[in-house]
Amino acid sequence: MSEAPFYLNENAEIEERVSDLLKRLTLKEKFRLLTSHGRLRIYTTPPIKRLAIPSFKTSDGPLGVAMHSSGFKKNTRFPATISLAATWNRTLARDVGIAMGEEMRAVGRQILLAPGMNIARTPLNGRTFEYFSEDPYLTKELTVPIVEGIQSMRVAACLKHYAANNQETNRRSSSSEIDERTLHEIYLRAFRGTVKEANPWSIMTAYNMVNGVFACENKYLLRETLMDTWGFDGLVMTDWFASRGNKNTEDCINAGLSLEMPWPSKYKMKSLEKAYREGKFSDEILDDLVRRNLRAMLRTGLFDSPETQPQGSRNTSEHQTLVRRVAEEGMVLLKNKDNILPLDIDATRRISLHGPNMRKKFGRLLSGGSSAVSPPYEITPFEGIRAKCHGKAEIVPNGTLADVAIIFAGLDHGRGGDSESKDRESLNLDEKQVNMIKNVAGNHKNTIVCLIAGSPIAMEEWIDDVEAVMMCWYGGMEAGHAITNVLFGDADPSGRLPLTFPRKLEDSPAHGTGNPRNYPGDEEKKVYYDEGIFVGYRWFDEKGIEPLFPFGFGLSYTKFEFGPVQLKQNTLHSPEDTLRVDVDVTNIGYRAGSEVIQVYAKDLESTVERPPKELVGFEKVWLEPREKKAVSIFIKTEELSFYDTTKHDWKIEQGKFNLLVGRSSRNIVGEAQFSYQ
Ligand code: BGC
Repeated sequence: MSEAPFYLNENAEIEERVSDLLKRLTLKEKFRLLTSHGRLRIYTTPPIKRLAIPSFKTSDGPLGVAMHSSGFKKNTRFPATISLAATWNRTLARDVGIAMGEEMRAVGRQILLAPGMNIARTPLNGRTFEYFSEDPYLTKELTVPIVEGIQSMRVAACLKHYAANNQETNRRSSSSEIDERTLHEIYLRAFRGTVKEANPWSIMTAYNMVNGVFACENKYLLRETLMDTWGFDGLVMTDWFASRGNKNTEDCINAGLSLEMPWPSKYKMKSLEKAYREGKFSDEILDDLVRRNLRAMLRTGLFDSPETQPQGSRNTSEHQTLVRRVAEEGMVLLKNKDNILPLDIDATRRISLHGPNMRKKFGRLLSGGSSAVSPPYEITPFEGIRAKCHGKAEIVPNGTLADVAIIFAGLDHGRGGDSESKDRESLNLDEKQVNMIKNVAGNHKNTIVCLIAGSPIAMEEWIDDVEAVMMCWYGGMEAGHAITNVLFGDADPSGRLPLTFPRKLEDSPAHGTGNPRNYPGDEEKKVYYDEGIFVGYRWFDEKGIEPLFPFGFGLSYTKFEFGPVQLKQNTLHSPEDTLRVDVDVTNIGYRAGSEVIQVYAKDLESTVERPPKELVGFEKVWLEPREKKAVSIFIKTEELSFYDTTKHDWKIEQGKFNLLVGRSSRNIVGEAQFSYQ
């Protein structure tokens, strides 16, 4: 009997196993590993029977394991990424990563096409709900634990969409025109941080071009930046059909593209053979790309026996509890006049419920695009409230005599809403909903609006008419219970906005000029990011524009008091140094609750233009009534740097910095100064 080949030895080092397997591959087999199965199996790669290489299987996506890419299975539907971002809770992000990894294992797939992590440049982007924030630091702080969580289950995370895919309009043909500093400082920054800190095993390129070159054949983005500068050793795959418009095979190969999905276009066997024969790419480059795919396969245990691998599970009660917890923690209380919330179930006799999202289930097959997850059940707001009120309060359809009216307004995953492939057309709710809110509010003195949506909504038309507004996002399969728990005070609304809510569209950076060159792009489909590094709150601060609700904002049911801000040291010397910021936080209210202590920095003596403030640290704390906690926030000096276009690298300049400690980007409660020397 012949001995098993070395690469199957589970106890050997992964790199050695990769080298061994690579040596055994024929040229044709190498080529076959660079693309998918073909037309019918658009999420998997072909097996190579001769060497017992199994098919490598991917699945969407950021909201959990999608039905369309998991053999039509119903899986846990997690809250939308934006809801997770609003929790500002790294531990929850990690738990979500682990749970998604477990579900992937349970459906037998190895690459989860998540997290989505593009920066929110325009509130109209149809995919804002699949992404985290307008801020690269907040994004990175949450993608790192998610990736670690997913990969702890030996499932590959796949960061997407690299890079500058910030709108859906013309996404397959537009070019994001971005200056070097902005590209690195805003749009690549979270990718860079996640690559360096969490070592993701794969990454997906964007559809669009960046400065005139499609992302999946963009040598600067892939080979030079991602691989050579940041040290990424995973595989690069295209977004689905993204390579169609690419110039040719060799440019993709030489740029560093390892996997063309969902079927061969530039990586057809014939094209690969021809380009190879003509010497358009070297064996060394080809081997590097194949090596990356094999490395990811081995990392996910594809060749190893099931007993030695982490066990999968899906639709467990633990996952459902986690989903509810994230949805609750992500809810952002935006307005709460006279503390109308939380509602007291014992003092409420009649509740009237309204609005198009009251009974809506969002987990429908492909609804909203590739992130759609169809769960085994989904609790609607109506069902959640009905369960809470059972035997205690009456739900009336439109009782003007109700004690409180709750409206479930917002968006849906349909076209023009929060959806892949198409941006929103307006920041406003549709007219029907605005009229309905005004009508209901006209009849009830206690009107609460719960917004179910995945992106900012303008509210000036109606917000003064209502008593409370809560941003519920898309809360996943337990949303109805989560919303009810927060409305009735069984859970604390501890979410903080991960992006600015503008009063009107023109206030936001991509729309300030009203010139199509900035959004959605000129006649040549070039989208000029003229606002530069001033994205999100950086823009609102710089231009002195009052947002409707600022970045980092969110009310609580309790009250917090902050002590003075103290720095452990006042001088930093090296980029490796860490600055410790201490502040005491006391819950001076009568309910338990969470506060997010946010630390922003301002470079006071910079030779280049810098934003008025930038988020550089945060901590979330839970406090019982009257409890006081000494909170320490650790700021990495690196976070204070900017991208220097003369060195083509990050730089921190000597001089003074201001640290602003706040409860939002516009509610600063303490300051301190330090210098870097
Ligand atoms: C999306 C990706 C997704 C892929 C596979 C594309 O349309 O942009 O995010 O992972 O489809 O379904």
